Amino acid sequence: MKVNFTETVLRDANQSLIATRMPFEAFEPILAAMDKAGYYSLECWGGATFDSCLRYLNEDPWERLRKIRKACPNTKLQMLLRGQNLLGYKHYPDDVVRLFVKKSVENGIDIIRIFDALNDVRNIQVAVDETLKNGAHASGTICYTLSPIHNLENYVKLAKEIEALGVQSICVKDMAGIMSPKEGYELIKALKENVKVPVVVHTHSTTGLGFMTLLKCVEAGADVIDSSISCFSGGTSQPATETLVYALKQLGYDVPVDEKVCKEINDFFKPVRAKALESGLLNPVVMGTQTDALIYQIPGGMLSNLVAQLTAQNKLDKLDEVLLETPRVREDLGFPPLVTPMSQMVGVQATANVLAGERYKNISKEVKSYIKGEYGRAPGKVSEELQKLVLGDEQPITCRFADTLEPGVEAARAELGDRATCDEDVLSYIAFPAQAEKFFEAREAKKKNTFTYAIKKVD
Ligand code: CO
Repeated sequence: MKVNFTETVLRDANQSLIATRMPFEAFEPILAAMDKAGYYSLECWGGATFDSCLRYLNEDPWERLRKIRKACPNTKLQMLLRGQNLLGYKHYPDDVVRLFVKKSVENGIDIIRIFDALNDVRNIQVAVDETLKNGAHASGTICYTLSPIHNLENYVKLAKEIEALGVQSICVKDMAGIMSPKEGYELIKALKENVKVPVVVHTHSTTGLGFMTLLKCVEAGADVIDSSISCFSGGTSQPATETLVYALKQLGYDVPVDEKVCKEINDFFKPVRAKALESGLLNPVVMGTQTDALIYQIPGGMLSNLVAQLTAQNKLDKLDEVLLETPRVREDLGFPPLVTPMSQMVGVQATANVLAGERYKNISKEVKSYIKGEYGRAPGKVSEELQKLVLGDEQPITCRFADTLEPGVEAARAELGDRATCDEDVLSYIAFPAQAEKFFEAREAKKKNTFTYAIKKVD
C-alpha cells in the first residue's frame, strides 16, 4: 500500500515553531532539492505565512509563492485556507473569497486545504467551488476535536457532506495533537469505509501522540500524512518525515520519498534552526512534549496564550480557575473545535469570566457575533441563558453569514486607487489593510530610491 507525504517545513512547522518568521531567502537554496524529494505536496503558503510576510518580513506573499512555484515545478504546492475567513478572522463576501482562490491558483497553488473552525460546511462551500472551477485540488477538511457531541457517526456524516461538494480529498486536521492512536485508527477506518476520495491526516507532536497516531492512521488506510523534515519536527510541529519514511518502508509500505534527498534537506535546515535557537526565535520548550493538552483538552498554543494573557495582567495565580472555566465556556458555545479563531475567543472569554469574578459580566465582541450566528452554525446547542443575555428577544441568524455581506472587491479597489498594481495587491489589502498599506509604501520608496537600496544590500 502506498503512503504519500506532505512536507510542512515551509508552512506549519515554520508557523508552529518559529511563528512563521522564516524569510524566503532562508530556504530558497534548498527548494530545488525539495522538488526532487518525492513529496506528494509541499505545504508552503496560507495559514500565517501571508500575514507574516507583510507584517514582519517585508515580503510580498504572492511573490514568495511565485518564486517557490518556479523553483519547484514538479511538486504540488499546497496552502491552508480558513474557508470563508480566508486567512483572517472574519467572514469575507463571496466575491473576495472567489478572487482570492482564483489568484492563489494562478500564482502557483495546486492543492487548497479548506477548513471551517465550526465544521460548518456552508463556510467552505464557495472556496471549494472556486478551487474546482480553477482546476485545482480542493481538500475538504474536518477539524478534529473531542466533546460529548463529536463522535464517529457525526464525523462520517460531515465527511459525506464535504465529499458531496466535489472535493478530491478529505483531511482530518488535528490542530492540537490530541487525536490518540485508537481514535485516529477508528476515525480513518470509518472514513475509508464511507467516502471514496483519499484521506489525509494532519496532526502535531505537541502531546507526543503524533508518531503513534500517524502509524495507526496509516494502518487504517490513510493515503497521505503530514510531516516535517526532522530538524523542524517535534513539539508543536509535525512528526519527523525521515523517521516515518524509515519505519513505514520497513513495514512494507510503498513510500515514494527519497531518504537521501531528505538528508540533504535536513542538513540544509540545521543551521537555520541553530540561528533561530541562538536568536531566541525558537524556544526549546516548544520542541519538547507537553502532555497538559491531554488533561485540559485544549491546544498547546492556546495554553501558552492563556499563560501570556494572565502574566501580562499579573494574574497568573488565576490560571487553574481559567483552565476550569475554559471547557465551561466551550460548552456554553456549543462545543466549537478549539482552532483559530474559536480558540482565542473561548480563551479570552474564560479569562474575562474569571477575572471579573462573574460569568459573562463582560462579553467580548467576537462572542457576541458568534452568538448572533455570524461565524456559522455552532456544532452543539448554545446556552440559552447566554443567548438571552446577548440577543434579548432577537433570534440568531440561521442563513450563511456571507449571504448578508456586500461585495468587497470593487470597494477595496476604489480605496486603493493606483497604490495597487494588481489584483493580488487588492487582496493583500482586503486581508490585512494596515500591513498591506505599509508594505506598498515601502515598496514605492524602494522603487524610487534604488541607489540607496543598492548600497544597503551590499552590507
Ligand atoms: Co497544523
